[in-house]
Amino acid sequence: MKIIVTDTPDQAFQRAADMIAEEIRGPQASILGLATGRTMESIYRILVQQHDAGTLDFSGTTSFNLDEYVGLPPTDPNSYSHYMQEHLFSHVNMPAGQGHVPDGSAEDLDAECARYEAAIRAAGGLGLQLLGIGETGHIGFNEPPSAFDSRTRVVHLDDVTRRQNSGMFGDDPERVPERALTMGVGTILEARHLLLVAVGDNKAAIVDEALNGPISEAVSATAIRLHDDVTVILDAAAARIWRQNGHLPNSPENL
Ligand code: F6R
Repeated sequence: MKIIVTDTPDQAFQRAADMIAEEIRGPQASILGLATGRTMESIYRILVQQHDAGTLDFSGTTSFNLDEYVGLPPTDPNSYSHYMQEHLFSHVNMPAGQGHVPDGSAEDLDAECARYEAAIRAAGGLGLQLLGIGETGHIGFNEPPSAFDSRTRVVHLDDVTRRQNSGMFGDDPERVPERALTMGVGTILEARHLLLVAVGDNKAAIVDEALNGPISEAVSATAIRLHDDVTVILDAAAARIWRQNGHLPNSPENL
């Protein structure tokens, strides 16, 4: 695992965007696994800037998002489908239909999860999977406990997550949907590379647990340590407790 610690959040976002851009420019058609949330907004902003500057072409890119709230149609401003349109898809030249988000308003949610898994497989599997980390240690919406071989499925959101995500819902955790569709931990682990990005002091404790605590289905993010091609990008605030516990970034630029 390569761990990069930057001085500022902006440097972390830039490093992450550079890695994603490199994947998009790579020789193979890129199948990106994408995430939503506050951390990703700045990363998408940088990718859109590169696209606007004419240095990043999304025409050969396909993407699959990690998750979606149950009950919100893609047009709902709080849906992750809408988020992706707002922050990335509507600004870049990715062909319509190549940016996939699970449909949380599907009538048969289990069938939608099976369809999503099949669509990922049919596309050739995930290349680079972008991940954030929630305060419960979730990746995607894999709340504790989530089996490491879990697949795309319906999950109940933890109260901590509903509070964490209440900003988009008038700061009222009760308005955050109780359920979501999420790629499973097993689905995520099948991506060829994982890129986890975390910034800010509120992530410091869970980052330390994810990188240093026992590998356990009680903290989904510990599963990334079972993958052999992982980059973790942290800003100094998110890395604080992990560093206090005696760990050092191992990327050449930090040594
Ligand atoms: C969302 C997702 C979540 C977020 C995590 C961090 O698609 O996969 O795992 O990445 O909850 O969210 P922020 O960046 O808002 O702190």
